[in-house]
Amino acid sequence: MSARIHLSLPHMGGEERLFVGEAFDSNWLSTVGPNIDGFEVELARYLGGGVRALAVSSGTAALHLVLRALGVGRGDRVAVSTLTFAGSVWPILYLGAEPVFLDSEMKSWNVSAALVDEYLREAARSNTLPKALVAVHLYGQHADIDPIAAICEKFGVILVEDAAESLGATYRGRHTGTTANFSILSFNGNKIITTTGGGAVLTRDEMALARMRKWANQSREPAVEYLHREYGFNYRMSNVLAGIGRGQLRVLDDRVQQRRAVFDRYREAFADIPGVVMQPEADWGTHTRWLTVLTLDPNEVQATPRDVVEALAKDDIEARPVWRPMHLQPMFTGAPSIGGSVAQRLFETGVCLPSSSSLTEGEQGRVIEAVRGALALMPGRTR
Ligand SMILES: Cc1ncc(COP(=O)(O)O)c(C=O)c1O
Repeated sequence: MSARIHLSLPHMGGEERLFVGEAFDSNWLSTVGPNIDGFEVELARYLGGGVRALAVSSGTAALHLVLRALGVGRGDRVAVSTLTFAGSVWPILYLGAEPVFLDSEMKSWNVSAALVDEYLREAARSNTLPKALVAVHLYGQHADIDPIAAICEKFGVILVEDAAESLGATYRGRHTGTTANFSILSFNGNKIITTTGGGAVLTRDEMALARMRKWANQSREPAVEYLHREYGFNYRMSNVLAGIGRGQLRVLDDRVQQRRAVFDRYREAFADIPGVVMQPEADWGTHTRWLTVLTLDPNEVQATPRDVVEALAKDDIEARPVWRPMHLQPMFTGAPSIGGSVAQRLFETGVCLPSSSSLTEGEQGRVIEAVRGALALMPGRTR
């Protein structure tokens, strides 16, 4: 019996143990220490663009801090991509604000400038402008952020980048996480690099960063006694986990290349199957292929994404449908949504395949065979 193939596994580089060992040797086993400081500096240096980093306990926590720093509160609206993981949305609810869901475009599967323009014009007319817009960079690919940023600026809406899935991607020569004034990352265990669990805030706004740092640390004021002027969170990252992050950062570029190579092999393997369409790579940057995602055209392929996921599960291979859009979640029935049919179609036709950077060619061969089997297209057979 061959081993289970997972969707996206942690992939250590080797140096992580050295940094973790240093934390043990020096007894920095808390939420302060040299690995935290080093990770924040090294992450910001890697990304460039003058951003500063705050390492925290998760991407969701990072977004919560950012939205609070932007003054989002009860009665506010926050626009957010509908095609995303729920972690992009929960912090809006934590602050008592209302999400407004935005549809995707086919070119990148992310929110489009045209839709943002249309939505904000109408919202300005009806006096319902959102305070912020959270643009998600899905599956490792950047949204077309420059025109979106220009439109947001015109309407006084603050742009936030949810780069949880896109670390390592570029947009017009810049790194993801640096193309808006406020961005967040996730280092959850399934991401392109991981701290087992963790996240980061990225911003050039030093004052906002200082406030978020304080909130993340229980809102402790710089005083000898425990002094609090505002409510806080326990959101700091541990110095042990930051050591894992420091090691992981050193192999991030390799991980992008490896995931892209996994994607290339899938693309070649399915090139002859009519109706199988790989997620496109927009011309404005580099897609990390954090996950390889393909769609099945129902006019050409009988099997649905669910059929494929279930067939692969029988071979002990983990695949997933594309995110169920937020506007189609029972949780958000009745929530305002601007369009949504593109995201719905991607959800109904899309499958995420095992994409680990450590996936061997043999394992990938198993996945390819299983997918072809599920599509009733075993090698050498045509429909
Ligand atoms: C797009 C997106 N946003 C936010 C998050 C939340 O990050 P975390 O799991 O670190 O809280 C995730 C994933 O985990 C994500 O995929």
